[in-house]
Formats: sequence, structure tokens, C-alpha cells
Amino acid sequence: MDVIGSIHEMQSLSDSLRQQGKRIAFVPTMGFLHDGHLSLMREAKKHADILVTSIFVNPAQFGPNEDLDAYPRAMESDLAKSRDAGVDVVFTPTSDQIYPEGYETYVQLETLPNHLCGLSRPVFFKGITTVVTKLFHIVKPHVAVFGEKDFQQLAIIRRMVKDLNMDIEIIGGTLIREADGLAMSSRNAYLSDDERTEALRLSQSLSKAREMITAGETQAAAIKAMTETHLSGCPDMTIDYISLCDPETLDEVETVTSPTLMALAVMLGKTRLIDNTVLVPQ
Ligand code: PAF
Repeated sequence: MDVIGSIHEMQSLSDSLRQQGKRIAFVPTMGFLHDGHLSLMREAKKHADILVTSIFVNPAQFGPNEDLDAYPRAMESDLAKSRDAGVDVVFTPTSDQIYPEGYETYVQLETLPNHLCGLSRPVFFKGITTVVTKLFHIVKPHVAVFGEKDFQQLAIIRRMVKDLNMDIEIIGGTLIREADGLAMSSRNAYLSDDERTEALRLSQSLSKAREMITAGETQAAAIKAMTETHLSGCPDMTIDYISLCDPETLDEVETVTSPTLMALAVMLGKTRLIDNTVLVPQ
């Protein structure tokens, strides 16, 4: 496995792989890898000859009061996990390389970021679409895999790739859960034992919602009310949003008459948690 820190070296390698007719798959990450990332890598390997990942904690997607400095980092164990997962190349740029002095170009969508996480994290998606565009120009993949855990991110990347005619196939990787249902996330590392137990309220709410749909419920308001009651049972949990929306436009729906994204975001103590499921009416 090659570990490449230089943008120029990564671009040259990708050019040469393409000239040899190799298909390149890409899984961008911010590191602190868990089984969710490894499953994206397994998926990516099915679609290409060469698997490239990146490890870069992107400052542009953190707001001033967010957890950029505290964000968990574990480069050595990430490299070992990547090697075990069959990654061929890990790209590890520094912030100075990605955003050199004088940097001023950003990629921003008009409406998709104005929903869900974008409402409370105003710079988040602008930072993501900018860094992903840059990483695409550097890694030059044929196919890239993004997790369905970050459903809005996946929808935004799909839209950006379509709108900007980027010749890259985007694949969604299944959300991976711990045995008890907690959606895997690098931020789970922040949770105390008690918070870890309370965090299950998110996946429990999604399961209850699926049961309501199976029982014939179609009113988004009823599902939201159930979820609010369940999440509010934990005094340390602050709800950011409970959304039932169209999976493509992310516009809120009142009735569940076609597959509908149910997405949740909360603060549990100092940790932001998100989870989602697609509700499929009977
Ligand atoms: O999903 C993530 O880990 C990040 O948002 C990404 C896509 C690596 C961009 O920094």
C-alpha cells in the first residue's frame, strides 16, 4: 500500500494508472476509521482495479464553534486498517496543501444544503463540496463511494457531480450499525457509557417509525410526535431536527405515500449524532 502526501505525486500516479487502463475507485474519509468506512472500501473494491482512500480532516466543513480540534485522529491505526481492507493508495494531504495561503475558491449548491444538517451547520456542505471537488481533481477516480449514513451529503454529491458534468460514478454505501443498532460514527468515540446507552434512542425511534408505517400510519406529524417523545425522554438530548422528507429534494412531506427519508440529528451532551432510514409505505 502506498501512502502519498503530495498532491502532485497523487495526480501523477492517477494519470499513470489511467494510462494503463486501470479503473480507480475512491473512498474519501476524515480518518478514525470504523467498520462503516471499511464496508465502503469493500464496496468500492468491487467496482475498480485500484482502491484509493484519503484521510483528511477538512477544516472548511467545521464551523467556528465545532469540534475541528477535538475531532478524533488515529493515523497509524487508520493506515493498518486500510492495508487490511485492501486499499492500494492512501492520500494524506495537509491543510496547507489543500488550502494554501490566498485560497478563495468554493463550490456551493443553491438549495440542497438549506435542509437538515445545513440549517444548523451553515458552512458544512460548502466545505464538503469544495474539498470533494478538489479530491476528485487530485485522485481522478472513475467511481467514488459515500455512506448513506450521511444521506444529505450523498444527495448533495450526486447533484454536484450531475450539475458539473463530473465523469464519476457515485455509489451509496449501506449505513452500518453496531450490534445494538447505534449507527457507526467516528464521533461515537466522544460518548460516555451513559450517553452511549441514551444514543440508542435514535435507532429505536427509526425502528418504531418503521413499525408505525407497517401498521398503516401515513401522517408524518404522528411519526414526528412519537420520535420527539422518545428522544425527549433523555434530558441531555437536544433535538436539532426530526425530518420526514423526499429523499432527492429533501423537501418535507406531510404524508408518507412513497419512499420517504426519515432523518434525525441531536446533540447528546457535546456530541452531535445523526441517523436515518428510508420509510417505505405498504
Ligand atoms: O464524510 C466524510 O467523512 C467527509 O465529509 C468527507 C466526504 C471525507 C469530506 O471531508
